[in-house]
Amino acid sequence: MSFLDLAKSRYATKKYDPTKNISTEQIEELKEIIRLSPSSINSQPWKFTFVTNKDVKKQLASQSYTNENSINDVELLVVFSVMENIEHFEKRNLSILPDAWVKGFYEPMIKSNGNTAVESWMKHQVYLSLGYFLSACISMGLDATPMEGINKKSYKEILSQDGYQPLFAVTVGYADKDDLAHPTILPKSRFELDEVIQSI
Ligand SMILES: Cc1cc2nc3c(=O)[nH]c(=O)nc-3n(C[C@H](O)[C@H](O)[C@H](O)COP(=O)(O)O)c2cc1C
Repeated sequence: MSFLDLAKSRYATKKYDPTKNISTEQIEELKEIIRLSPSSINSQPWKFTFVTNKDVKKQLASQSYTNENSINDVELLVVFSVMENIEHFEKRNLSILPDAWVKGFYEPMIKSNGNTAVESWMKHQVYLSLGYFLSACISMGLDATPMEGINKKSYKEILSQDGYQPLFAVTVGYADKDDLAHPTILPKSRFELDEVIQSI
C-alpha cells in the first residue's frame, strides 16, 4: 500500500477488539523502530515505556480519563517520556555528539534562550517520534491511538520514572469492526489542501 493510502486508512481508534492481540514479535519490532526515531542533532531526550503487564496497564488506564476503556482493551500501551534534568541530558546525550553540533547549534540556538526553551525543544523531539510511531503502526497493519488525555503526574508515579516526565501515551492493537470513528464511517476531517499547503 502507498504511504498516501496508509495515511488515509490510519485513524485515532476509539474502540478496540479485545479478542485480537498484537504479537510479541510485533511488539519487539515496534521497540526497534521507535529506537531509530530521528531527533534534532540526534539528541534522543526520551524514554519509551512498553506496558503489557495487565495490572500496571489497568492502573494507568484508571488515570487516563476517557481513554480508560481503550487502554484496558489492548495488549500494548506505550508511554512517551522526556528527560527532566538538563544537566544530565547534556552530560549523557550531548557530550557524545560532534562538538560542532553542540557548539554550533545547541548552545547558540537553543541553550542561549534559557531552560524553558531547552525543555520545549526536548519535548518537540519526543512529539516528533509520535508521528514516526503512528506511521510505523499502520504500516504493520496495527491500529493506534495517541493520547494526551492522561494524568502525567500519576503516570510518573505508577511507572516510577525518576528523571523522566511522561508526555503522552499510545495504545496499539486492532480496531473493533464496529468502531464508529473508522474513516469509512466517519470521513477524515482536515482543512483543504490549499489552506495548509503553500506552493511557491
Ligand atoms: C498529540 C495528540 C494527542 C491526542 N490525544 C487524544 C486522546 O487523549 N484521546 C483520543 O481519543 N484521541 C486523542 N488524539 C487523537 C486526535 O483527536 C486525532 O488524531 C485527530 O482528531 C485527527 O483524527 P485522526 O487521527 O483519526 O485522523 C490525540 C492526537 C494527538 C496527535
